[in-house]
Amino acid sequence: MHPDLQKILLTQDQIRARVSEVAGQVDRALSGKRPLAIGILKGSIIFYADFIRCLTMPLELDFMAVSSYGSGSTSSGKLKIKKDLDTDIKGRDVIVIEDIIDSGFTLACLKKLLNERGAASVTIVTLLDKHERRTEDISPDYNCFEIPDEFVVGYGLDYNEEYRSLPYIGILKRSVYEK
Ligand code: IMP
Ligand code: MG
Repeated sequence: MHPDLQKILLTQDQIRARVSEVAGQVDRALSGKRPLAIGILKGSIIFYADFIRCLTMPLELDFMAVSSYGSGSTSSGKLKIKKDLDTDIKGRDVIVIEDIIDSGFTLACLKKLLNERGAASVTIVTLLDKHERRTEDISPDYNCFEIPDEFVVGYGLDYNEEYRSLPYIGILKRSVYEK
């Protein structure tokens, strides 16, 4: 285990089994479609790569990078698009693949945006859900793991751009971010 971690929350085996289980459900729900799989950079990349390889329908890939401002302290928060899609999503079935839903602000804004752009359907898939922290009225259509309100890293998730390549998900020691 990485020395900056307090404990491992989800092992490689647990992640692998659950990701393929959830991807199987999405695969059945969207069978016969040709969806666009949208990965939200950078946190979702490892989940995205594992998830899409479990889907059996023809699939197109695209990515967005976003950051949110105003969640929590400001009421009129805004989503900043750092990298937009290359694809016109009008009439498309899209699958949004995100690492974690926390306040729900990012996904609520994103869902609204994709609907405004004319997506035929928007399916939201998250790896992790910190349900206790939700302030927005949104839930993912599919979630792999509900987790407690702790700061987690690994399997794509970072703290200050570190720990993304750990193959498991762990709780970061408080001393790492409170120093
Ligand atoms: P939301 O807009 O509050 O739902 O924030 C979601 C975003 O916050 C995620 O896409 C992550 O980038 C980040 N985030 C929230 N909790 C964690 C965590 O425990 N570890 C790493 N990133 C987190
Ligand atoms: Mg993120």
